[in-house]
Amino acid sequence: MCGIFGYIGRRSDAAGLVVEGLKNLEYRGYDSWGTAWKTEKGISVRKDIGKISSVKSADFTDETSIAIAHTRWATHGGVTKQNAHPHLSCDENIAVVHNGIVENYDALRNELKAKGHRFLSQTDTEIIPHLIEEEMKSTKDFAAAVRSACQRLKGRFGILAMHAASQTLVAARAGSPLIVGVQKGKTKTSPVEGYYIASDIPAFLEHTRTVQYLDDGEMVVTDGKSILFSDIVSGRERPKREVEISWSMEQAVKGQYEHFMLKEIMDQKESVARAVNQDEEQIKTLAKAIREAQGTFIVGCGTAGKACMAAEYFFSVIAQHHVNFAPASEFKLHHHFLKPESLLIVVSQSGETADVLEAMHIAKSKGAKVLAVVNVEGSTISREADYTLRINAGPERAVASTKALTGQLAVFLLIAYALAGKLQDGKTLLLETAAEINDMLNPRYVERIRSLAENIKTARDVFIIGKSWNYPMALESAIKIQEVSYVHAEGFAGGELKHGPIALIEEGTPCIALVGKDEVMDDIISNTIELKARGAQIIGISPVKHDVFDEWIKVPNAGNAQALVNIIPVQVLAYFLAVTRGKNPDMPRNLAKSVTVK
Ligand code: F6R
Repeated sequence: MCGIFGYIGRRSDAAGLVVEGLKNLEYRGYDSWGTAWKTEKGISVRKDIGKISSVKSADFTDETSIAIAHTRWATHGGVTKQNAHPHLSCDENIAVVHNGIVENYDALRNELKAKGHRFLSQTDTEIIPHLIEEEMKSTKDFAAAVRSACQRLKGRFGILAMHAASQTLVAARAGSPLIVGVQKGKTKTSPVEGYYIASDIPAFLEHTRTVQYLDDGEMVVTDGKSILFSDIVSGRERPKREVEISWSMEQAVKGQYEHFMLKEIMDQKESVARAVNQDEEQIKTLAKAIREAQGTFIVGCGTAGKACMAAEYFFSVIAQHHVNFAPASEFKLHHHFLKPESLLIVVSQSGETADVLEAMHIAKSKGAKVLAVVNVEGSTISREADYTLRINAGPERAVASTKALTGQLAVFLLIAYALAGKLQDGKTLLLETAAEINDMLNPRYVERIRSLAENIKTARDVFIIGKSWNYPMALESAIKIQEVSYVHAEGFAGGELKHGPIALIEEGTPCIALVGKDEVMDDIISNTIELKARGAQIIGISPVKHDVFDEWIKVPNAGNAQALVNIIPVQVLAYFLAVTRGKNPDMPRNLAKSVTVK
């Protein structure tokens, strides 16, 4: 969940370069930061607690062509300068940054301590440079020592390592993503200018869009002019393709917006249409695979999980086809029902979520096929799946997922329509909805929701209700409000209120009703009336006005795509609730964008 970035090549400002790139990864984990670079005298290190955004890359004036950097999301050991990466060996010649968790660190630490190694932090990571140092006593070769050290690590890791006496950068991966960015040279004599190695593409997107992916169990050694991929255990070379990615730097920056979250909410003016723009034959093939599978399961975490839950309704209502939803972290308990003829659909924005990967591995071990619906190009989940559908949302940087969700919903609606043999109807509906979202997100509309946020900013609780596909959207609304504004929010199926939750309603409690002009409209309005009778302040998000609403946020009448439009005003409300309460919505406390630990 931490961010890793390293550079080796012809540039002589590597230290400043990795610090700058690291700022693009800050959303991954941000309690502390650190960097190490090679100089003639040895390895220099700077690290501290706090945000990398306030560090000036111009302050790194040493000439150097090899540097590594890290933003930390604490797992082992508190948020202190000592615990920030990079960590060093006893002789201070080896520096390592690490993403993941070394599960056997305690045993290794005791073993290394007995051999005289001194530890300065409480982290699991610190054992890695010491282990490499120990291995170097027998091999002398840095890359070989990293290889042997990695073979002793249990758990998940992505590491970057450098040595004061070696003109190389070494990286290894087991469970935590690492991507190599290749900066091409302009002449035949120097075909490569340098290599960037990062846990996430935005770190180097401004320098190159040519990438090579490390797979689990692989390591790379590079001197900045060439690179060698190999298997960590056997040492055998692993040939790699270069891939051009489609993301642009413009998509990955805030532009005119104060926060990525608002920018990404507004991106939905275009991103929904991009999600709909799929290869029709592929959609039909996937619909066929779902129809023919003996049991289709659908899993994701958090917001992506809510898209899965909504998909369960889409498949049921539009195609009369049953799929089984489970949060990815609960899927383990359902594996008894998997057969080689079953299908698992996994949904993930990042394509790196540990619980989703585990669900995939369980399904594969049973011989079942896996369809992945992902956003991030080349992510582990997209590469390991049998079929992959990209939602084409572009980079999602804010921790709170917004445009990825609507992209996921759009893709599932499309598949549900294809399953019903009505793909063109689904496409038409979605493209009309995309155009209506474009109209809806106008400055007046956004301002109206901002002032509503101002009105309810002191509320202790917010409750959200919905029915049918608006029920998962009520759960998602609660996630959005909780994670960025820290207001207690809970979502319910409207019909469940009278079975308990209604006891929580007090005079003036803001309650949001997600309503569609559909067969369950009367039911959800009845539930809303029940809330109003207990004193709730009703905010109706609905295509039609109703007397029960104290505030009416109008949304387009989108029929079967109503979930997609109803969630957007709540995203805007959650954003302004955070801002008006003085919170930074892009960096919610305790959270990180990509959850690569279980
Ligand atoms: C909430 C949010 C998270 C993610 C969850 C899964 O706004 O973003 O709940 O949806 O961590 O992440 P991905 O989609 O990357 O698998």
